[in-house]
Amino acid sequence: MSPVWVELSYLIVIVLFIMGLKGLTHPRTAVRGNLTGALAMLLACVFTLLGTELFDWTLIAVGVGVGALAGGILAVTIQMTAMPQLVALFNGFGGLASVFVAGAYLAKLLSSAGASNLGADLLVATAASGLIGGVTFTGSLVAFAKLQELKFIKDVRFPGQQALNAGLFLACVVLALLIVRQPGHANLYYWLMVMVSLVLGVFLVISIGGADMPVVIALLNSYSGLAAAATGFVLSNVLLIVAGSLVGASGLILTKIMCVAMNRSLTNVLFAKLQPAKGSGPSADEVYANVKATSPEEVAMLLDVAGRVVIVPGYGMAVAQAQHAVKDLTNYLREKGVTVEFGIHPVAGRMPGHMNVLLAEADIPYDLLIEMDQINPTFEQTDVVIVVGANDVVNPVAQTDPNSPIAGMPILEVHKARTVVNIKRSLSPGFAGIPNPLFAADNSLMLYADARQALIDILKALREG
Ligand code: TAP
Repeated sequence: MSPVWVELSYLIVIVLFIMGLKGLTHPRTAVRGNLTGALAMLLACVFTLLGTELFDWTLIAVGVGVGALAGGILAVTIQMTAMPQLVALFNGFGGLASVFVAGAYLAKLLSSAGASNLGADLLVATAASGLIGGVTFTGSLVAFAKLQELKFIKDVRFPGQQALNAGLFLACVVLALLIVRQPGHANLYYWLMVMVSLVLGVFLVISIGGADMPVVIALLNSYSGLAAAATGFVLSNVLLIVAGSLVGASGLILTKIMCVAMNRSLTNVLFAKLQPAKGSGPSADEVYANVKATSPEEVAMLLDVAGRVVIVPGYGMAVAQAQHAVKDLTNYLREKGVTVEFGIHPVAGRMPGHMNVLLAEADIPYDLLIEMDQINPTFEQTDVVIVVGANDVVNPVAQTDPNSPIAGMPILEVHKARTVVNIKRSLSPGFAGIPNPLFAADNSLMLYADARQALIDILKALREG
């Protein structure tokens, strides 16, 4: 295939990538978007191979075979709740691929064209590939280990950690400069820089708390895109530059959305640990002085006379795997003529779209899932809100206490409903580690139980009732 045709076919692939991303913006079109992206990636590989004559077909067949097998097994076996870990691994291997491709191309050029013929632009791009790719690889492995709650990895913090990170980064920059200034030894400096960047990746991520990992993964996703784009410059491959930039930009946008929804800055996520502000707000004992417990039977009686019910899922629904029980209750209530909707907070759970994914897995219709801004004005007309394992995302303190760690975070204003039923196992705090006055409000009832079992019991009581 002539280079002109290859470049033209790249244009089609780029359009398909963008259509794929567009499709991913809505659950209804997400599957189509995903397939479009996969098709674009397949075409990208085919067109690239057709445009080159220098490769070993056997090696490529083995690579594709191993990759397809590993991908297939993962796709079939992975649990929905383990998706962030999987994405972390994908990012990491993307970064590693950039490191190897840029390194191999550098070695090839050094032996064929000679050091004196390597332009500074190419060397800068190679250094960027190795540096960002190396950090992405080990950073993602640490993120994976934390999300997987592997025992050997704990939040490691020690004095001078930021200084160490700065030192490691500086060493990478110096080695990158040496690659550009002394191309004759570029190979050596490149791999030295990669080694240092691998260590930097570990130390950058190891001190960040497990619950902040989704934000870090979105950022590492962006890094893997940037590494790929830099490799695109190394290889003069327009498609890789565009695809890498799309990943880099979308990862950054996602990082920003998550930080805004958690009302935290990226610096705070990366360099600080979320802790309740000292001395701010009353203690849990004071807040929970007048908490009222309820039973599945009492909740069933409330639901029996309700006209409008809103279900607010949170992290506890994911822990309890209660989405199918939620669906059964929803179906029962809707069959009885009750209006049921879901209030979805952008950072409920522990990953973007966590609740949407779980509810979609249980086949709950998308049009029942209402975003925070749309559902908030309806709570005053809602008879019963069932909060299923959510805590921070319904904590009114975000609006009332400027010293609270979640101050300013937009919340689902469930406290405005006529009755709120909170299903959780105890009065333990959520991710932010602070008490929630919603649980002690006059219109609030606590159903202490595992979310799945509680929903099953409520449905049983409704059927018997
Ligand atoms: P959380 O505030 O973390 O509260 C979850 C609650 O679920 C806990 O209070 C826990 O109480 C309950 N729970 C746990 N297991 C349960 C079970 N088996 N059955 C019933 N309840 C159970 O959750 P949220 O309201 O979804 O808020 C999410 C938080 O995570 C926010 O602070 C957000 O900023 C943060 N965060 C989110 C993301 C993304 S992207 N979603 C990323 C990082 C951090 P008990 O132990 O008493 O049962």
